[in-house]
Amino acid sequence: MRSHRTVFVTGANRGLGLEFCRQYAADGWHVIAACRDLETAQEVRATGARVIALDVANPAQISDLANKVDGIPIDVLINNAGVMGDASGTALNANPEEWTTAFQTNVLGPALVTRALLANLKHSDAPVAVTIGSQAGIFDCMQSANLVIYRSTKAAAHAVTISLGRALTEEGILYFSLRPGRTATDMTEQQGDYTAPDSVHLMREAISVAKPDWVGKFIDRSQTVYDYAGGFHA
Ligand SMILES: NC(=O)c1ccc[n+]([C@@H]2O[C@H](COP(=O)([O-])OP(=O)(O)OC[C@H]3O[C@@H](n4cnc5c(N)ncnc54)[C@H](OP(=O)(O)O)[C@@H]3O)[C@@H](O)[C@H]2O)c1
Repeated sequence: MRSHRTVFVTGANRGLGLEFCRQYAADGWHVIAACRDLETAQEVRATGARVIALDVANPAQISDLANKVDGIPIDVLINNAGVMGDASGTALNANPEEWTTAFQTNVLGPALVTRALLANLKHSDAPVAVTIGSQAGIFDCMQSANLVIYRSTKAAAHAVTISLGRALTEEGILYFSLRPGRTATDMTEQQGDYTAPDSVHLMREAISVAKPDWVGKFIDRSQTVYDYAGGFHA
């Protein structure tokens, strides 16, 4: 067993991503913090994390990722980077460019980053990788016309998790989505039922007990399976 375990976090400069880095670093993990703008990375750098530049909507930067982390075993990958897009946008008026960027970030991002880090994950003796999913991407929770960019891309991200989960099982990697619950961050304008330290603490606990039975599924912070179509299982 290696003395240090390594976590790779995307969107690591603020919000849940920054808090993941803080908590893993405080627990003695080697943290690789991927941020799209290094000028905003002061807080995460202060945790002792190794900071690298990565815009998850930029396929060229993702292709270069393997060179930056060549040979490093990654035990936990957290595909956290995400955008909401215009919250008032409906399918009739949402900006197509903004929608496309959100699709690249929220849907393609986790898939392409995971592909790029596949060899690193396979170097771990018990690799776990996750996407931060959202109740907004659950069909039964889509009860208004607005928020279409976020809802449609998070629903698609859940579909990608199902595919990744099944495909990565053959590689010995456990992949699933995690639900933080509505947590106060910039994305929620600092409104929420939970704080980032609390949500991240519970999501880290879930990651630490990841089960083969969770592969491809949406796991709530309480470690309950959340149905992609309609909420909690009884
Ligand atoms: N907060 C909640 O209640 C909640 C609930 C369910 C799911 N989630 C999910 O949790 C994740 C983190 O959300 P948050 O609440 O922490 O949001 P946040 O405070 O808005 O932070 C979003 C993070 O994603 C990064 N990011 C956005 N686009 C990126 C790109 N193209 N490349 C790299 N990084 C990018 C941002 O970097 P910049 O600073 O450069 O913009 C920032 O670090 C998201 O996937 C979100 O959908 C959040």
